[in-house]
Amino acid sequence: MCGIVGYTGHRDAAPLLLEGLQRLEYRGYDSAGLALVGGNRDGLVVRKLAGRVAGLVGQVAGEPVVGNTGIAHTRWATHGAPTQGNAHPHVDCDRRIALVHNGIIENADVLRAALEQAGHRLTTETDTETLAHLIEDAKADSLEERVIAALEHVDGTYGLAVVSADEPGKIVVARRGSPVLLGIGNGELFVASDASAILEHTRSVVYLNDGDIAVLTPTGYHIVDSESHVQVRAVDDVAWDLEAIELGGYPHFMLKEICEQPETVRSTLRGRLLFEQGCARLNGLNLAPQALAEIRRIVIVACGTSWHAGLVGRHIIEALARLPVVVEYASEYRYRPQLGLPGTLTLAISQSGETADTLEAMRAARAAGSRVLGIVNVVGSTIAREAEGGIYLHAGPEIGVASTKAFTSQIVALTLLALLLGRQRGLSLEVGQDLACRLAQLPGLVDRTLALEPQVKAIAQEFADARNFLYLGRGVSFPVALEGALKLKEISYIHAEGYPAAEMKHGPIALIDADMPAVFVAPRDDVYQKVVSNMQEVKARGGRIVAVTTEGNGELRGVVDYQLQVPATAPLLSAILTAIPLQLLAYHIAVLRGCDVDRPRNLAKSVTVE
Ligand code: G6P
Repeated sequence: MCGIVGYTGHRDAAPLLLEGLQRLEYRGYDSAGLALVGGNRDGLVVRKLAGRVAGLVGQVAGEPVVGNTGIAHTRWATHGAPTQGNAHPHVDCDRRIALVHNGIIENADVLRAALEQAGHRLTTETDTETLAHLIEDAKADSLEERVIAALEHVDGTYGLAVVSADEPGKIVVARRGSPVLLGIGNGELFVASDASAILEHTRSVVYLNDGDIAVLTPTGYHIVDSESHVQVRAVDDVAWDLEAIELGGYPHFMLKEICEQPETVRSTLRGRLLFEQGCARLNGLNLAPQALAEIRRIVIVACGTSWHAGLVGRHIIEALARLPVVVEYASEYRYRPQLGLPGTLTLAISQSGETADTLEAMRAARAAGSRVLGIVNVVGSTIAREAEGGIYLHAGPEIGVASTKAFTSQIVALTLLALLLGRQRGLSLEVGQDLACRLAQLPGLVDRTLALEPQVKAIAQEFADARNFLYLGRGVSFPVALEGALKLKEISYIHAEGYPAAEMKHGPIALIDADMPAVFVAPRDDVYQKVVSNMQEVKARGGRIVAVTTEGNGELRGVVDYQLQVPATAPLLSAILTAIPLQLLAYHIAVLRGCDVDRPRNLAKSVTVE
């Protein structure tokens, strides 16, 4: 989704901004632009275009822009098509003010009408442009006061960076509902929507809170609230390295991240397994044993792949802790009546920690009296900060738009939680100890699973031209089927549906023929034989079958066309392994079809609008 980067300091801003935009490309976007102040006689210079940052780099190389202060943006269209005019930065009538904005101005139509009535000339279809004119209109002296005054009229969400030709050297930043952070350098300051844009220059960051207005100049920054009261915010250190956001020899981030999973699963487990007690140590939960014991039901809120991880988690928590779990699409849950049932624990699962619907669902649950924990990858993200506590995945930055390593780490984190809750609720020491050992073995098993890649590639060749896919599984493998289908849709644009294998006969079976490959997720578990019967049903109708199953499973020969055998593990943990061949299958099919795997059309990595 939209990305922001800004710079003020002693260096030439344009190259820093362009490089920052390139680092943000992974978020998904359709147009790009920048504005500089301080280096031009006219005060303000703007360059923008529809398309790739590379195009902007070329444009700036052909027609250089100078200035030590600037803001830049990658836009993911919401209001208005992805055109040059609608790209950010947006300017006021006199082109003295330029701004970039993430989020949505919900009352933009009303504001636009009022501004036009007052004589402003608005030239784009965007909601954002109204902000530039509101600031122009504001009766105040300094840029920050004008921004504060303008924002009083605004309903909606924003992460905002504003420059003015009248105050070169200054950037005013505002946040409500859309993440922004400041980067503290030596005699220079940065602003960005995520740390990857500025990590090359500084690791010291300040995460802004909703309602914060920050004023940056090369000599320092201060943060105020809307009443101009000074706010103090901690300076945090970004823990990961630049290497983590570079390709390191891989052709795509998605493949790199799939291959990182032995290490990311290990990181999620690190220091958290108590082998002797057959339990898990999760200090970040910030919940006393008594509070944990009082939990009567769990509500999981999440979107996309994180929602699928939640579905897997439901099986694991219900099996180990015997607690009822419901898994909700955050976007649906937030608008339903909150029941406020006593003893509810709400778990917000989010890789980015910034997904707008998940954040709002979490806030709604908290307002209804629920305890709220986060299972989050990005340290310092909004969900992580607003939750009472939680479990960090420690999977490192996930750049590929199609989530992969976060999914397996989310399941690992949920299993650790289930183990802890289970041991408090009668799960035996022996079962706990066995599970702790099985979890510790996972990184090695993930590594072995990755060795299936050549086989997956061959299968991808066979099916790359298919137009529809059915993914089927039961029990803990049903959400894996959903996730496999989602991966394929996201990056190869092939229609794919995930279905509970036994439900197939209530509808989708009508679709089965030789042109509709069926991918079964069928590890050896207590529903395995049932799933084999479902395979027979497909086979009997001339369907072609790929089965992801457990090593040593010879009996599927003759039933299925292709087998991908993952190592054996505890059935409850199987999703962590069976998901991997499906990630690889989607990846290789997309590559064979010539799709831009890391930048799939229309998608965004972090969805910060509802
Ligand atoms: C977007 C991404 C998905 C992700 C979903 C939820 O749609 O493209 O990969 O699963 O958002 O994101 P979150 O950061 O909350 O896990």
